[in-house]
Amino acid sequence: MIDRKAEVIAIVGGQWGDEGKGKVVDYVAQNADVVGRGQGGDNAGHTVINEYGKFALHQIPSGIFNPYTVNIIGSGVVLNPKSLLSEMATLSGKGISLDRLVIDYRTHLLFDYHKVLDGYQEDGKGKKCIGTTKKGIGPAYVDKTARVGLRAHLLENPENCLKELKFILEQKRREYRSLSARDEFRLDYYADIIHESSRMLWPHITDTQEIIEEYLNKGSKIVAEGAQGTLLDLDYGTYPYVTSSRTLVGGVLLGLGIPPQYLTRSIGVVKAYQTRVGEGGMPTELKDEQGELIRQKGHEFGTTTGRPRRVGYFDGVAARYSQRTNHFTDIAITRLDILSGVGELKVCSSYLLGNSPCSFPVSEDVLDCCKPFYGETGYGWEEDISSVREFDELPLGARVYAYILNRHFPNARLSFIGVGPSREALIVV
Ligand code: IMP
Ligand code: MG
Repeated sequence: MIDRKAEVIAIVGGQWGDEGKGKVVDYVAQNADVVGRGQGGDNAGHTVINEYGKFALHQIPSGIFNPYTVNIIGSGVVLNPKSLLSEMATLSGKGISLDRLVIDYRTHLLFDYHKVLDGYQEDGKGKKCIGTTKKGIGPAYVDKTARVGLRAHLLENPENCLKELKFILEQKRREYRSLSARDEFRLDYYADIIHESSRMLWPHITDTQEIIEEYLNKGSKIVAEGAQGTLLDLDYGTYPYVTSSRTLVGGVLLGLGIPPQYLTRSIGVVKAYQTRVGEGGMPTELKDEQGELIRQKGHEFGTTTGRPRRVGYFDGVAARYSQRTNHFTDIAITRLDILSGVGELKVCSSYLLGNSPCSFPVSEDVLDCCKPFYGETGYGWEEDISSVREFDELPLGARVYAYILNRHFPNARLSFIGVGPSREALIVV
């Protein structure tokens, strides 16, 4: 019998992604036994800055820098082997060991034909396009749900894997005649990458749910690292302008095979302001000079695509919705330092539809018509706070602002405030 109870911490984005989860995971994972990704793929870009350098992790969990942590790519992820191999090469080039990286047998594989389909479908939607990262995420989840996807266990035998791929490619060529002449729809295009993936990745592929079970029984500390954010969730997000995976706390646990009753803590990561990449409604969007100032100060350009992010005031309605769907126990406010000296800050406390207040709407068309009501205005501070490490040493304006944001997450305590990109630039409240 083990008397120590396992600690399972989910870290999930509370907005539209890019909240700075990588930094919070990097901190919380320092003494974790396991860190895992349970959904999404290389559409994610988790920036981590530590003693080894600056990294944009796309598929490898942020616990990889800790030599004792097991890093899991779980069954819920759609894994691009090509980009994983290049990520692995970058990390090992900087002296980081990949011995403790494991991939679940069940993880679906994403290939270049998925990327072609992603672009093709986006282009076909014209003005109704989603603004995806064009990484093939949606088409890979389609194959998974349609039960024709290839899973990581197939990499044990590259010839078998190619045989399965041949069958899928034939089907895709029939379905997408106009694309059928493209290289990505021919089997020989994949011979090298499948052989290389088999050679390089097979040693990492295993039953990671068994590992989870073992560590839960040992009473270990497990961190479930979310990708994207609550409002991009396939069901609860701003559909159809969402990603194709389940980004809520529940989705991340499921994608790692962690039984939900083991969850002990869930940290919602939110930026001190709002950003969004891609299309869709964003009631607090700032299209003025202040928005541009925040974008430039915060380098708000996508880690994965380089696209400028849309910037706006903190959206309390979206925050309360995020809390409603996740019940975070803690929140981490990131990038508070960016707001020093950017002028008056407002917080959206409700939406107005016509003259009536409304809660976070289900329909994206309605969201597009919602006007923000700024019930909380007049905040701001001038001081540079990037070297502050104690909550009490923040300027009063910044403390009040942080409390106001926290109020939009009922029952969640304010646990972290990010004031800069490095690992140390984190106030533990
Ligand atoms: P997809 O995930 O590439 O299919 O893109 C769908 C939507 O999710 C688009 O609006 C993307 O901009 C957005 N998205 C996907 N991954 C991220 C991310 O890591 N951060 C922010 N937005 C993302
Ligand atoms: Mg990102």
